[in-house]
Formats: sequence, C-alpha cells, structure tokens
Amino acid sequence: MCGIVGYIGKKQALPILLQGLRDLEYRGYDSAGIAVLDNRKIDRVREVGKVDMLAKKIGQDKFVGTIGIAHTRWATHGGVTESNAHPHIVGEGKLVLVHNGIIENYREIKKQLKNQHQESETDSEILGQLIFENYQGDLMKAVKQALLKVRGTYGIVVMHADHPNQLVAARLGSPLCIGIGDKEYYIASDVTPMLPFTKQVTFLDDGEIASINGDGLKILNMRDEIINKTVTQIDWDQAKAQKGGFENFMLKEIFDQPTVFEDAIRGRFNVDEGTAVLGGLNMTLEQMRDIKRVMIIAEGTARHAGLIAKYAFERLANLPTEVDFSSEFRYRDPVVNKNTLVFVISQSGETADTLMAAREAKRKGAVVRGIVNVVGSTIARETKAGTYIHAGPELAVASTKAYTNMVAVLLLYALQFGRIKHTSLATGQRLLQGLLEIPEKMNEILKQTDSIQNIAKQYQQYHNILFMGRGVNYPVALEGALKLEEISYIHAEGLAAGAMKHGPLALISKDVPVVAILSKDQLYEKMKSSIQEVRARGARTLVIATVGDEEAKEVADDIIYVPDTMELLEPLLNTIPLQLFAYYIAVALGRDVDRPRNLAKSVTVE
Ligand code: F6R
Repeated sequence: MCGIVGYIGKKQALPILLQGLRDLEYRGYDSAGIAVLDNRKIDRVREVGKVDMLAKKIGQDKFVGTIGIAHTRWATHGGVTESNAHPHIVGEGKLVLVHNGIIENYREIKKQLKNQHQESETDSEILGQLIFENYQGDLMKAVKQALLKVRGTYGIVVMHADHPNQLVAARLGSPLCIGIGDKEYYIASDVTPMLPFTKQVTFLDDGEIASINGDGLKILNMRDEIINKTVTQIDWDQAKAQKGGFENFMLKEIFDQPTVFEDAIRGRFNVDEGTAVLGGLNMTLEQMRDIKRVMIIAEGTARHAGLIAKYAFERLANLPTEVDFSSEFRYRDPVVNKNTLVFVISQSGETADTLMAAREAKRKGAVVRGIVNVVGSTIARETKAGTYIHAGPELAVASTKAYTNMVAVLLLYALQFGRIKHTSLATGQRLLQGLLEIPEKMNEILKQTDSIQNIAKQYQQYHNILFMGRGVNYPVALEGALKLEEISYIHAEGLAAGAMKHGPLALISKDVPVVAILSKDQLYEKMKSSIQEVRARGARTLVIATVGDEEAKEVADDIIYVPDTMELLEPLLNTIPLQLFAYYIAVALGRDVDRPRNLAKSVTVE
C-alpha cells in the first residue's frame, strides 16, 4: 500500500522524509521518491526498489530545503518504473504531487487536458496535470476544483514552486494525518513517521482539504466551509502504529477487509448492464464464447477462494469448473486446451507450485490469467493478463483480506462470463448490488469482535475442532479450519456436511466440537439436520447463522449472527467470524499469530 510523508517547518526536510519513508516500509512498496523545495527550485529523486537504494542515489546531494514530500509506491496503474514512481512533477516543472488511491475516471480527465504529454503511465500524473490546469494563483483552490472533477479515491499532498511555504493535502478514501509540532507540520498516510517528533495528530476526513504552512493549518470541506478539527494525543509506539493500533498485523488485516474490498471491485462493473468489466481478461466477446471450461489453480487460502468461484462459474456462466492444488496440477496430465480458461490465483504471486502450474497450463495451450495481489510479482508478470486484487500488502502469514478480495474478483469474472451466457440483467444487477453492500455488512460482523473473542476463549482447550458447511459454505469450512490450525496449532478439519455420515462422524464426541455454517439458503434444512446429527453424538456446536434466524439457536451451543446476503456472496461474510475465532484462540494460547511456526508468507520452493 502506498505511503506518503510530507514536512514543512524549520528543519531540513530531506532527513525527515527519508526516515519517514523507512518508517512506512512495513506497508510494502516497489519504488520510492522524494521532492524538496527551496527558493522556488524543486529537487526530486526517485528510484525503483528499496528506500536504501533511493538514499544511495541521493548520496552526498544536499537537497537543501525545509519543505518537501515523499512517497513509497505500490504499483496499481503502470508498471514498476522510475518514471511511474512519485513524486510527479507537472506544469512546466512547477507543481509536485504524491498520491495514494485510484483515479477511476483518469481516462476521461486525460482527454480533457490541454497538455496531452505525460511522463508516466499513472493516473496520479493526470491528477497533477488537472490541478495545474485549474491553477490561477491559489493552490488550495486549484486542488479543490480539480478534485471536484475526480471519481475514485485519493490521499494527496501537493507542493508548488511559487508557494515555497505551503503544502496542500486532501483526502477521499485514502488516509492522511497531520502531526503538529512547534511551527512545523508532518503529513503522512499513517502516524508512524511522525511519532518521533510529535504525538499531537489530527486526522483528515473524507472530503477535506488542508492548507499547511509553517504558521498554521487551515482545513476546509468541498463547500469551502472551515472545519475545526480535534487534535488527538497518540500514545502508541511506532510498532503499534504500524499495525494501525491493533495488536497484530493479522487483526489489522481482518479489519482492513471492508475498505480493501471496495478497492477490489471499484471501477470493475457496470450496474446498468448488470455486468462486470474486468479489463485484465483481455478477450473479445468471441474469444469468451469459445471458452468451454474453467480451471482454477492455487494453493491454501487462494485455492479456497477458487472453490467458491466454482459455484459462481457453474451457476452464472454454465461453465464446467475444476479447482486443483497447483502442486497436483503440475504433476498430473491435465486436460486443457485453447478452449480452457485457467485462472492462477496467488496473493504473493511467487508461490513456486502455482507459478510452475501456470507455465504448464500455458505450455498446453490454455488461456491463462493471473489473479494476484503483489504487483509486479513473477506470476503477474508471466501471466501478462489478469487482475490485481488490490488488497494492499498482507504481512501476517495467515491470509485474510487477500482471500475476500480474491473471491470478489472471481465473482466478477463469473458474472462477466455469465452475462454473455444465460445470467439475466436482473440477476447481474442483484449480484452487483449485493457486492456493493458487502463492506457495510462486514463492518456489522466486525462490531461483534468482543463477543466472538468470548466464544473463542471457550474453545481453546480442545485438541481437535471440525468445521462443516455445504454448497458455497463448504469452502468456508475449509478456510475456517485452515485459519485455525495454522495459527493456533489445534488440529482442525473442514468437511462437507453431507459427507459426515460417510466417515468423519466417527470422530465426533464431546471432546470434538463442530463449527457449522448454517446460512438461510437452499441447503438450510439439510445443514440443520447435519448439525443435529453431531449434537446428538455429544459435540458442542458453534453455529454461524443468518441474522433473524431464531430457529438456529435450537442446534447451537454458541451462535454468531451474520447479515443476510445472496447465496453466492455468503462466503464473503461467513468467513470473517471464522478468521476472528481462529485469531482469538491463537492469542489465548499465546501463539505468535503473525508468524506461525514452520510457515512462510511466500512459498517460493516446491
Ligand atoms: C493460509 C495461507 C496459505 C497461502 C498459500 C498460497 O493462510 O496464507 O495457505 O494461501 O501458501 O499463497 P499465495 O496466495 O501467496 O500463492
């Protein structure tokens, strides 16, 4: 996730900005840059790779100046290159900008610009040019007027050579905070870089613009009304600040889900047409119609996301869909050809088995598309086409927010195929409406964190826990079990509820509790019977039920309610209480939640 640092005050800006970038490294990035303003002259340096490489490039250069901005970039639009790195300088070398977020309508804006020359491939540079073309001597006004024309998200900081004592910052959907010192200000995408200098911080809210100079801070909304902000005293140390105040990265990433989910779907659908518009598919309608089968290849959590997508591709697009472990696919004789669409899914984009499976599928002539989180990773580069899930850096080993974003992107793909086959406009629109409501519903679940923690504590003493579900919630059971075992080291199994009586039922006793997903969908009654069966054999049951389902209490010792949604979207909600359940059991057992034993975040060996 990109990071922003800015400084204006009496000290030299360069060392503060460099240290600030280092403090933001934990967010993940692929390039970095700094610009310092002095005497109407802007010095800028950018480099691909680590902040250390940027520092090396700066070398002995002084970069004198007490005002400056800096950025770590996590590529979204445009590859990982120096010219795509921020800060961007536009407008005859006078205006400098750093930007986090995505400008959705950058193509339309570009068409309207007087200056059609861009140095980079980024939406950010277009935004900079738009600000410059609105500039008539008042920098804050220019920023506001430009932002009124923008659709998307931004956290920006802007500097202008003719305003040597002013920074302008604005936010919509991408966090920015301002640290207040003694006649000096620090701006950053989170509080981490400012904590060594000040604990007094004000947080910009969406739709606010700040003009900051050495003497003061003025914050307006888009209607030019002055906003009086409260100043918060931050008591976190830097390590806690990096985790957004959460105890662990995993918990932070669970809570990131409503926000990053919006990033996964933004600009990728058309409600009027009831369809998805994933440019990364890169296929004509005719080529899409030639696809006769879908294969999904992935490992671990990514494979579970794929298993959910199987239901969507079959139901919406009538396409036979197979899901396999990458490690199995590459060593069998997979039957794929030019009519097979193969999705390779990977958070890291570096998983060796998945990469090899992608190569194998390509070799056999399949149409291969990547669904990847880490921009510029090997799988993203080798598959060439596909879609980034925009979950931002995932630092905890156990995958959480990448999973929900993978499911979101896969559902959009299934819809895009569905709409050229038999899915109706009404169903497409209903699905999109359902997706748009997911972030709010995720927040409803996250509000129950305390009660989920209380429930989790009561399960910490068990040595075996089974998870069961049916239909789209069968992969949810698999994911719940995987989360629990990898971070708590309790043995857990995910099972298809209908298969219990063919063997696993023998495991049930009062010492083996069952977590069951009982959503109000077509399989409700069958699922309820399965829960009754395990209860009758002594199992304690934790039931994930739909809000308002009072009957579910009849089969539950413990219950967590989640909001209602369309059946295909249920996994997006049902998985979240299971992530929290696993997390709090692991915490109660004193495990190293972010770095569980024997596991690595990126499995680059076979
Ligand atoms: C589970 C987990 C792993 C990964 C798997 C694939 O929480 O993180 O099971 O899902 O190793 O990794 P990626 O998605 O990076 O290919």
